[in-house]
Amino acid sequence: MAGLVIANWKMHGSLALIAEFSQQWRGLPQLSKVDVVLCPPAPYLGAVSEAFEGLLLGAQNCAEQVEGAFTGEVASQMLAELGCHYIIIGHSERRSLHGETDAQVAIKARLAAAEGLHPVVCVGEALEQREAGEQDEVVSEQLLGSLAHVPCDRLVVAYEPIWAIGTGHTATPGQAEAMHGLIRRRLQEHYGAAGAGIPIIYGGSVKPENAGVLFGCDNIDGALVGGASLDAKSFWQIASAASAGRA
Ligand code: 13P
Repeated sequence: MAGLVIANWKMHGSLALIAEFSQQWRGLPQLSKVDVVLCPPAPYLGAVSEAFEGLLLGAQNCAEQVEGAFTGEVASQMLAELGCHYIIIGHSERRSLHGETDAQVAIKARLAAAEGLHPVVCVGEALEQREAGEQDEVVSEQLLGSLAHVPCDRLVVAYEPIWAIGTGHTATPGQAEAMHGLIRRRLQEHYGAAGAGIPIIYGGSVKPENAGVLFGCDNIDGALVGGASLDAKSFWQIASAASAGRA
C-alpha cells in the first residue's frame, strides 16, 4: 500500500500561512507512492483546496449528527461537499478537552464513512497508563469501542500516544511497532482478513529526523503530523520518507 502522511494543523494557520506554504510546496519535488493529506482548521478548507494541487483535503472533526439545530457544528456531508477525503476523528485533544467518548467517535466514523470519506480514528494511551503497563488494554478497549459498526473499507487508524503529542518525546520505533502490531491483530480479529489492509499511522512528535526509522517498521504505514506539518519543507521531508521503499 502507498504511504499515508496527514498534516493536522490543529487550531493553527492563517491565509498568509496557506499562501506561503503552498508556494514553498510547489517548489519541492512531487512525491509518489504516498498520499499526502492536509487538515487545516475548517474555515480554511476552501482556501487550502484552491491553493494546492496534489494534496488531499481533510478535516479535523465532524458532528455526530447528520443535520439540524446544532450551532457551531459541521456535518460530514458538508465536509465531503467541500472536497474533503479524510476526517480525523477522536483525536486525544477532542477526547480530553471535549469529553468525546468511544461511542461518539464510532458514530462520527460511521457518518464519515457513509459520506465516502476516510475516517482517521485516533487512539492512544496517557503517560500514567503506559507507566502502569496498561497501554495494551487501554488501546485495545478504545479501538474496539471506537470502531463499533464502523465499516473497514475506508478506515484509517492513527496511534497517537498522548505522552508523545507536542512534547518532543516520540515513541521509540520499538514501542510504536509493538503497539501497531497489536492494533493490526485487533483489526484482524474485528474485521477478519480485511484488517490486514487497514492503514495504521503513527502520530506524536514525528519530525524529519525520526520519520525514516519509524516508517521502516512493518506495521507503520504513515504518520499524523502536528507541529512539523506547519512547515512545508519539514512536512515534505516526512512525506518523502514515507514514500521511500514503497512498492
Ligand atoms: P505533534 O506532531 O505536534 O506531536 O502532534 C501530533 C498530533 O497530535 C497529530 O494529530
